[in-house]
This record gives sequence, C-alpha cells and structure tokens, in this order.
Amino acid sequence: MNSRPTIFGLLVLILAGNAVADSAHDAALYEDACAACHGSDGRGRPVEDRGFELELPDFTDCEFASREPDPDWHAVIHEGGPVRAFDRMMPAFGDALTDEEIYAILRHIRTFCENKNWPRGEFNVPKPLFTEKAFPEDETVFNLGLDTDDSKAVIFETLYEKRFGPRGMVEVSVPLGRRDSPVDGDTNFGFGDVALGYKYALYHDLERGSAFSVGGEVILPTGKEEDGFGSGSAILEPYAAYVQLLPGDAFLQAQALAEFALGGRAENEVAVRAALGKTFTEGEFGRAWSPMVELLASRELGSGADTTLDLVPQLQVALNTRQHILLNVGVRVPIANKQDRKPQIVMYLLWDWFDGGFRDGW
Ligand code: HEC
Repeated sequence: MNSRPTIFGLLVLILAGNAVADSAHDAALYEDACAACHGSDGRGRPVEDRGFELELPDFTDCEFASREPDPDWHAVIHEGGPVRAFDRMMPAFGDALTDEEIYAILRHIRTFCENKNWPRGEFNVPKPLFTEKAFPEDETVFNLGLDTDDSKAVIFETLYEKRFGPRGMVEVSVPLGRRDSPVDGDTNFGFGDVALGYKYALYHDLERGSAFSVGGEVILPTGKEEDGFGSGSAILEPYAAYVQLLPGDAFLQAQALAEFALGGRAENEVAVRAALGKTFTEGEFGRAWSPMVELLASRELGSGADTTLDLVPQLQVALNTRQHILLNVGVRVPIANKQDRKPQIVMYLLWDWFDGGFRDGW
C-alpha cells in the first residue's frame, strides 16, 4: 500500500493547524492592543464606548485600507499618530510591541478588507516625471516644464486623476503655456492639447512585487499649433504600464505606448519609457527622498527618423509629515537624435488628495 497520502495528509493537517494558530495569535494580539479603540471588527468602536469624538479609520473599507502600504502603518503603530500628522489619540506601541508583533497585527488588520481586487499601496511607488505609473491614483499634479532654448517656453500642466472602483482610473490634463516665437520673437500665450485618459490595473501580485496596467489617452488638438502649443492633430495613445518592486525600497517602472494621429499633421509614434529609483528614509520613519533616473525612447513611424533618446535624472521628496504632498525636480537631457533640442527643466508638485487636504498633515 502507498503510505504517501497519509504522510501528505498529516503534513496538510500540521500546516493548516499552524496557519490557524498563527491567525489566532495575530487576532489575539490585535484584540489586546487595538480593539479597545478600533473594534474587534476593525470598523472602530462606537463613540459612547471609547469616550472620544475623533473619527476612527474603518479597516474593512478596502478603498481606504488597500492603498495604505504596510511600512506607513508600521510607522504609525510604532511611533503613534503624530509621525504621519495624525492625532496623538493613536498611541505609540514601539515600546510595548516588538516589530514581529506589529507585523502580526498588520497581518490581522489586512484580513478586514476582503476584496482582493484592490491593488495594494505598496505599488504606489514614486511617480516619475514622464513614465505613467501602473498604480491607479487619486491625485492632482501640477507639472512645470522650462525650456532652456531660445523659445524660453514655460508649460504649466494641471493633471487630475481619480480612481473608479478597485482597478480603474480616469484622468484629465490641461496644459497652458508661454513661448517666444522663432519667427517674429513675439511672446505667445495659450492652451496646449487637452488629454482625457483611462487606466485599468489588470494584474497585481504583492508576493511577486509586480503590477501591470493598460490604459489609453485621447489627446485633443486644442492647442494652437502655429504658436507651438500642440501637435495640430487628435491623437489616440494606448499604453501598458508595469511596476516591479525591488529589494531595499527600490523599484523599476516601465511604460510602452503608441501614438496614432487621427488625421492632421502629426506622425505616428512608438515610445518606451522606464524609471529606476530607490526611496531613502530620514531616520527610521521620517521624510522620504526618492532619486530616480528615467530613460525616454521614441521613434516616429513612417518618416524613417532615428530613435530619440532622453535621460531624466530627478529627485522626489515628500514635503509634509503625512507625505501626501510631494515635489519632484529633474532635467530632461537629450542624448540621441538631439537635433536642436536643449535640456529642459521639469518638475511637479503632487497632491495625493485621498490622504488629506492640501493644508493637512504638515
Ligand atoms: C486609544 C485608542 C487607540 C488605540 C488603543 C489604537 N488606536 Fe489606532 N488610531 C486611533 C485613532 C483615534 C486613530 C485616528 C487618528 C487620526 O485620524 O488622526 C488611529 C489611527 C490608526 C491608524 C492609521 C490609519 C490611517 O489613517 O492611515 C492605524 C494603522 C492604526 N490606528 C492602527 C492601530 C493598531 C494596529 C493598534 C494596536 C496595536 C491601534 N491602532 C491602537 C486610536 C487608537
């Protein structure tokens, strides 16, 4: 007789038993340390039981809980609310609990959101200046581009992104600019090409550390081409975006896209963008600094033109204590098929408005 099924069965029993014991252990720790305020069900105890008015987070609300990465919650649990500009009613447990216990409690908190469709906030790595992220975001980004060539062009773009459901996101971007005309030297002001977009997170797996999205933009010829604001054509831009989390808070992001001009004068184009970066934290829980370098490659189809290559070194920094207001500054340096292109100074100010108002959390 084959004895493997029994040994295998025993193994399954032991492993399953361990998992149950582990989750019971996680739950007991949570019950002891956290449930008095956050409730055994993770929704927050009623006001009359806990004796303070302040609103408590609802850990069963996936829309909120999924976007918070473990390291951020670990910081709040270890140091108390003020480390991320939350109320000091959220106590510090750094002296009472070991890191292992805090992570056991986090495992338990993660069981409250039962819908695994929501990609985890760990994938919400720093936004590069050009490469589209795989993570769907709720944010407003103010982009500024300063040309160093004779046009002295200044382009200011407002980008609004809003999530829809666990995986979807819509976006609108409106550029405004000023530019000196190469013909008569006059300074022109105007709108650039307004873009509307949609993104969908197709795949995400936290254990593998990778996520993948597809999306598309419709770029409308709202800019006045003769003044240098816009391409003069409506453009359809499908893309795919990928993120890979790497050890030591490093990350790789990549985007592949195609631009199809719908009539008008613009050329069809394909492009690949990639960003490699790493986040450094001041002290154990402080301000996040994320240097990144982006490579932008694009090629016009049909015209036989060479591939254009740009390198964009940049540094993103969290400006406030909540870390939801971020600044990124970089330089776009042409390295191949330069023609008459000069370096461009690029920056953004990003407001992750789901995490609080612009003036909150400083
Ligand atoms: C004395 C009551 C109290 C206890 C005990 C308590 N908390 Fe809190 N916690 C709060 C309050 C109040 C907030 C909200 C603070 C705010 O919004 O300014 C909070 C916020 C949090 C947040 C931040 C959520 C976010 O918005 O990102 C996390 C995570 C958290 N608590 C985890 C825990 C864990 C884990 C424990 C147990 C180890 C615990 N808390 C124990 C009161 C408490």
